[in-house]
Amino acid sequence: MKIAISGKGGVGKTTIMALVAEQLKRDGNEVLIIDADPSPHMAQTIGVKDPGAIVPIAEMKTLLQERSGKTEGSPFYNINPQVDDLLSRYMIEDNGLKLMVLGAIESGNQGCACAESTVLKRMLTKLLLAPSQYALLDMEAGVEHLGRGTIAGVDHLLTVVIPSKSSIRTALKVKRLAEEVGIKSIHFVGNKVADKEDEDFLTEGLGLKPIAFFPDSLEISRAERKGRPVTEHLDEVADRVRQLLTALQ
Ligand SMILES: Nc1ncnc2c1ncn2[C@@H]1O[C@H](COP(=O)(O)OP(=O)(O)OP(=O)(O)O)[C@@H](O)[C@H]1O
Ligand SMILES: [Mg+2]
Repeated sequence: MKIAISGKGGVGKTTIMALVAEQLKRDGNEVLIIDADPSPHMAQTIGVKDPGAIVPIAEMKTLLQERSGKTEGSPFYNINPQVDDLLSRYMIEDNGLKLMVLGAIESGNQGCACAESTVLKRMLTKLLLAPSQYALLDMEAGVEHLGRGTIAGVDHLLTVVIPSKSSIRTALKVKRLAEEVGIKSIHFVGNKVADKEDEDFLTEGLGLKPIAFFPDSLEISRAERKGRPVTEHLDEVADRVRQLLTALQ
């Protein structure tokens, strides 16, 4: 199953994806996380011992250009690049989770990361997964990647939303664009929710009940501040993570 996550900046996309990954791993599944945020933060969030040692694929500029067939100054690029070996070559494994970091894609004067997003798109469609294999895609904030159709091939899109009007506005925009690119299964996930009033505010504003609500947790925010993996706190929210995963079945 391929699951991507989206939403406004700082709503908790990386946190929730890390918790989902840990739960899936504990349930005996094989989990590959693709960190597609240009400011990657997943390695720290899941407690990779030496995040600095990870080579982001984007730093392989020549390789990317080669694979996408894009040449300097040319608007054309190969829409069917060879990506078979990228996964095995640039994936690290730590704590039983596999992680691949895309990194900051330099758009240079092209003003568009088209070639690189073609490589990601291709990688996503290439991945053939057994039922016990999960590919989780952590995305940058906002809707730009949806505009490019990079994640059109995922089975589910989770849109994280916190109890604020601006977060709801972004979530609704994400939903609209995701529908436009043909993603069939789009779900809202409430985060940093304090009480029933917050839950109702979200359900009303979105016009649809989120599949799970995650509490605003001091443990979670402190873990991040202390540089501790959030996965250490899965037990506190495991029921919410299970609820989320059940809704995707
Ligand atoms: N349920 C929660 N309770 C308390 N703090 C949380 C919760 N979820 C996330 N946070 C905190 O909110 C901050 C942002 O979380 P996170 O990095 O997961 O968001 P993001 O959406 O991935 O951000 P970005 O858009 O920058 O990628 C972090 O400090 C994190 O610890
Ligand atoms: Mg993030």
